[in-house]
Amino acid sequence: MNYYNNVLETIGNTPLIRINKICQGVKATVLAKVETTNPGNSVKDRMAVKMVEEAELAGLIKPGGTIIEGTSGNTGMGLALICIIKGYKLVCVLNDKQSKEKMDVLRAVGAEVVVCPTAVDADDPRSYYSVAKRMASETPNSWYVNQYDNLSNRKAHYESTGPEIWEQTEGKITHFVVGVGTGGTVSGVGKYLKEQNPDIKILGIDTYGSVFKKYHETGIFDENEIYPYITEGIGEDILPANVDFDIIDAFEKVTDKDAAIYTRKLAREEGVFVGNSAGAAIKGICQMSDRFKEDDVVVVLFHDHGSRYVGKIFNDDWMRERGFLEEEKKNASDLIKSHSEKRLVSVAVSDPTSRAIVLMKQYGVSQIPVIDEGKFVGSLSDNEMYSRIVETPELKELQLKILWKLLSLR
Ligand SMILES: Cc1ncc(COP(=O)(O)O)c(C=O)c1O
Repeated sequence: MNYYNNVLETIGNTPLIRINKICQGVKATVLAKVETTNPGNSVKDRMAVKMVEEAELAGLIKPGGTIIEGTSGNTGMGLALICIIKGYKLVCVLNDKQSKEKMDVLRAVGAEVVVCPTAVDADDPRSYYSVAKRMASETPNSWYVNQYDNLSNRKAHYESTGPEIWEQTEGKITHFVVGVGTGGTVSGVGKYLKEQNPDIKILGIDTYGSVFKKYHETGIFDENEIYPYITEGIGEDILPANVDFDIIDAFEKVTDKDAAIYTRKLAREEGVFVGNSAGAAIKGICQMSDRFKEDDVVVVLFHDHGSRYVGKIFNDDWMRERGFLEEEKKNASDLIKSHSEKRLVSVAVSDPTSRAIVLMKQYGVSQIPVIDEGKFVGSLSDNEMYSRIVETPELKELQLKILWKLLSLR
């Protein structure tokens, strides 16, 4: 029989998949190490197991103990799996920027979830770093994982992720590109790869609002670089011990909007349904296209699964509210261009007002032409219409001519 003794044994040996369409301006072969086939659907399963096993060896966790961690969700998921198998309790402390799906998933696997505000300094007592530390000091028989400074994190990637990439590319890899958060992935994989071939370039993806790129280039920890951002999993307002800045050749920053758009492109154009930091990483490769030659083999690592972002990146309303939708109309000619083949949508004064509402919603327009006896008599805007309906809800089911008359009397 061919089976695993428990779910932890299924971690690793993730596939390497060629990216065919998105990076068309990039001459090199781009291969994605897609970490979603891990049982917790992210690369973080690897380091979660390593951190717990090393803590057990060091006598830091006792049977029946409580594991506490500040986590954006993926590390929490990995920890949850190991806690289930080994019988520990788990408390995950998250910031309120994290998607609701991530929190629900953690609860589903038995973790207690504590949510803290994002818009406070790391050393503020309300920050998720501070809350996690405090809970650990107040809870008997508990252990604070601290994925930022716990070096078992990068060791996991040195021992598993790095060797897998080296073997899968038969040593032909020339560049490794990855989003940087705690720094475990970039530093562990980067160290292993550079030991095999010091010419391999290690490129970290950062985000606007994070300190990494400037610190790497100047050695200055510039607090002016810190502000709230949307991209999940990468960038920091601290310098985690796991980030080995000497291993990283360069950082590239990607905007929140581009990261979101490229996450959607990965799903729609490549069929690779992955998370927000993957969009940032692939866009970073496009931005750095000058660095890559035809024979280069660029490996990019995608940390987690797209299902954790269905309420955000993969939700049109969420994207539109932030001005992230690519198809946003920029000027009148863009609007006409996409409608040239379509019939003109209009509403007759004899129609019920509710028809205007349905048509506006269906076609995503905020104004609609009004026709009376075959002639154009003006246009109705959603603002005017809704404010009248709020005052007199019955108007919705009456003929539009009544609302139209009221509007012309204003
Ligand atoms: C979705 C996602 N992307 C990227 C990262 C960054 O990986 P690392 O912490 O190994 O630098 C994380 C880590 O939390 C993550 O959850």
